[in-house]
Parts: sequence; structure tokens; C-alpha cells
Amino acid sequence: WSRRTAIAAGLGAGAGVVAGAGSAYAYASSQSPEYTPNLSTATVGFYGDKQAGIDTPPPAYGQFIAFDLGENTTKDAVARLLRILTQDAAQLTAGQAPIVDQEPELAAVPANLTVTVGFGERIFDIVAPEKKPDWLKPLPAFKQIDRLDDAWNDGDLLLQLCADDRVTLAHAQRALLKGLRSFGSIRWVQEGFRRSYGSENPGETTRNLFGQIDGTINPTSADDTMNQYVWGQNLEGVQAWEPGGTSLVIRRIHMNMDTWDLSDRPAREDAVGRKLSNGAPLTGTNEHDVADLGATNELGFTVIAPYAHIRRAAPEKEAERILRRPYNYDLPVSHASGISQHGDITGGISQTGLIFCSYQADPIQQFVPIQQRLAELDMLNTWTTPIGSAVFAIPAGCREDQFIGQSLFS
Ligand code: HEM
Repeated sequence: WSRRTAIAAGLGAGAGVVAGAGSAYAYASSQSPEYTPNLSTATVGFYGDKQAGIDTPPPAYGQFIAFDLGENTTKDAVARLLRILTQDAAQLTAGQAPIVDQEPELAAVPANLTVTVGFGERIFDIVAPEKKPDWLKPLPAFKQIDRLDDAWNDGDLLLQLCADDRVTLAHAQRALLKGLRSFGSIRWVQEGFRRSYGSENPGETTRNLFGQIDGTINPTSADDTMNQYVWGQNLEGVQAWEPGGTSLVIRRIHMNMDTWDLSDRPAREDAVGRKLSNGAPLTGTNEHDVADLGATNELGFTVIAPYAHIRRAAPEKEAERILRRPYNYDLPVSHASGISQHGDITGGISQTGLIFCSYQADPIQQFVPIQQRLAELDMLNTWTTPIGSAVFAIPAGCREDQFIGQSLFS
């Protein structure tokens, strides 16, 4: 028995000790309530003031689909599209089959599916130019680091689909795109993953494919920081666009696993300023200890180096905080160059990276200054390269008698 089997069998929270192969496997009985024992019936509510998929726990699989509207798309067409999308998304996330669904049995396993809709500039240009937030435009170029490929940039409409089951996700994508296909075409799709459901304890910070604990410092709903930095409540100097709305910056960042292999553990920890073992700052013991950026060693150098990622990413102004909710990507090895027929490695063997998703009330005031500092100096840049960039406005959620984005039409 694994812990996962125990959970699937309904023994979830509080089951305490489960007999493993020859050993007892203890786990905390204080599992958080959102850890739903049975995925086949696990749902995340669709309706509400805010869209799901942002401050809800990230499921194992994420699919990001940027869509371009057809050339002559009218305001009425956008309203039709959003009505269909809202209806289909609400049904799929509840484990019900939308009307267009020809494989309705697949819809019966919602597996924490969320559908989050984002708007590019053109939606506003067509529907309500006066409501377009000033920040909704491509980010300024970060010339030192950007190697952007237009294949991963921009888009008129974003669908962010997340679920804990890959079949559920594939089916939801197809069902939603069926409803949309007469309105335009797909611009790009980015497919990502995190640890599987049950592989991490609830509340545990995930690791990226560099092996780093990634996500320690993040706004949370446990205090007011999510409301402030993501939903823009009581945050001075930012342009929050509508109550319950936010923005999403998606940066596709290549991680060079082959040159990362050449660096040893001390160099890797020095680059970030945190320990690989448990994510503690180099000045602390536990993951959530506050990093002491002023601490020096016996030689007088700061323990957390001037070029360390966490020093450079730390806020310099109150507003400079973002919610990071990234997904890993790892393209099939056969797509990577450098493996000769005889199997010896002559070059790279991975196309790996992060779909770096950053949510904040105002990307210009919150995301850009951080990215600017990192572009100027960050040891992680030795191994990472941004290859795609897109900004979307995320509209508020809606009630059952409304559709996502309806406020643009009033
Ligand atoms: C912190 C990895 C890109 C912003 C961290 C940490 C790691 C990490 C391991 C420390 C633990 C944590 O707090 O999560 C990476 C990797 C990246 C990347 C592998 C690229 C592949 C970025 C980018 C931004 C960013 C593009 C924003 C423009 C931050 C922030 C923190 C952070 C704000 C918290 C800083 C603090 O301690 O106050 N990142 N990161 N990261 N990163 Fe990144």
C-alpha cells in the first residue's frame, strides 16, 4: 500500500499510519481539507467573484492555450464565444458533459479541473477599448536575457486548463476548443506538469526540474497578501482593473539541464541563496526562515551573494510581489538534438524549462521591476533563457446567470 492507495481508498485525512512494504509509513493527520481523497469526484467550484485556477491549489497538469480571433470578429461574436466558453467550462469543471461532447463519459471525472480565461488586447479593442488596462501590452524587452520566439508570444484569448488527471485535461481541451473553433485559430499551446496528486504532502512546496524548492515566498490566502498583490485590494500605486480581476504574465523559460549538470551543489545553492535539501535560506535552517540579506561570513562577504536569485528578486518597493504558480515542461527527448545513433551524448539531451506563470494586479508595477533586476544580474541566468512572453488580463469570475467577461459589455 502506498499513501496514495490509502487515500484513494478513502482513508485520507487522519488515517495516521499505513502499513507499507515491510514498514510502517506515518504521515501527518492534520492534512488540509482541500486534499480531496477521491479524484474522480474532486471538483473546484467554477462560479464566484474570482475565477478558479489562481488562488486554488495547482493540480498536476496545466495546459495553456492562446487563441487568436478571426480577422473580422465582432463584439457580438465575442459575447457569443464567451457565453459558450463559460457554459462549457462550468459543466466540465462540475464533471458534466457539455452539449458538444461526443465522449461524455470522459467528462464524468473532473479531477480538480479548473478553466481560467484571460484576455489579450484585441478582446478589449473589439468590445470596450476604454476599459483596457494600460498595462495590457507586451512587456518591455529584457535585452540582456530574452531570446523570444514568436511561436510562444502573445495571443487574443487565453485558456488555462489545470487538472489532476491527464485524460480529463485532454478531453476538456477538446470539448472547449470545439465550441471555439469557428471564432479563430490556436496560436500556441504550452503543456506543463508538476508532481502528481498524492506525491507531495498538502502544503509542501514543490520542486522544479533543477531540483530546487520553488514557491516558498508567495502571497497566500492565509493572510491578506493574496488579496493585496493578486487581487489589487489596498495596494497603493497599482492599477487593478476590476474587482476580482488580475493579470497573468506567462514567460516560457528554457532551463539548460546540460550546463546545470556541470555545476556542483555549493554553486547551485549560491546561485539562488537557498539550500537544495530543504529550501532554507543560506542564512537559516528551515525553509520558511526569513533570509538575512545583510549577514556576512568570516571574510566579510554577504552569505547570500550579490548575484543570488532571491536577493535580486526580493521586493525593493511594497508593490513588487507576485504570485508564482509555474508548471514544468519537458519535451520528448527524441525532439532534442545531440544524441547520436550510438547513444553517446554529443550535445544537449533535454528541452526542459518552466512555464513561469506570474499573477499580479498590475504587471508593470509588480512584475517588470523584478524581471528588470533579474535581467541585469542573476546567477540563474547562466542556465535559464526566456523564450516566450505573453500578458493577459484575467477578468473577474461570474455567477450562474452571467458569463466570464460580461462586465466589458455593460
Ligand atoms: C524565488 C527559481 C525565474 C521571481 C525563487 C526560488 C527559486 C527560484 C528556487 C527560491 C524559493 C522561492 O521563494 O520560491 C527560479 C527559476 C526560474 C525563476 C528556476 C527560471 C527558470 C523567476 C522569474 C521571476 C522570479 C522570471 C520574476 C520575474 C522570484 C521571486 C522569488 C523567487 C519574486 C522570491 C524572492 C524572495 O525571496 O523574496 N525562484 N526562478 N523567478 N523567484 Fe524565481
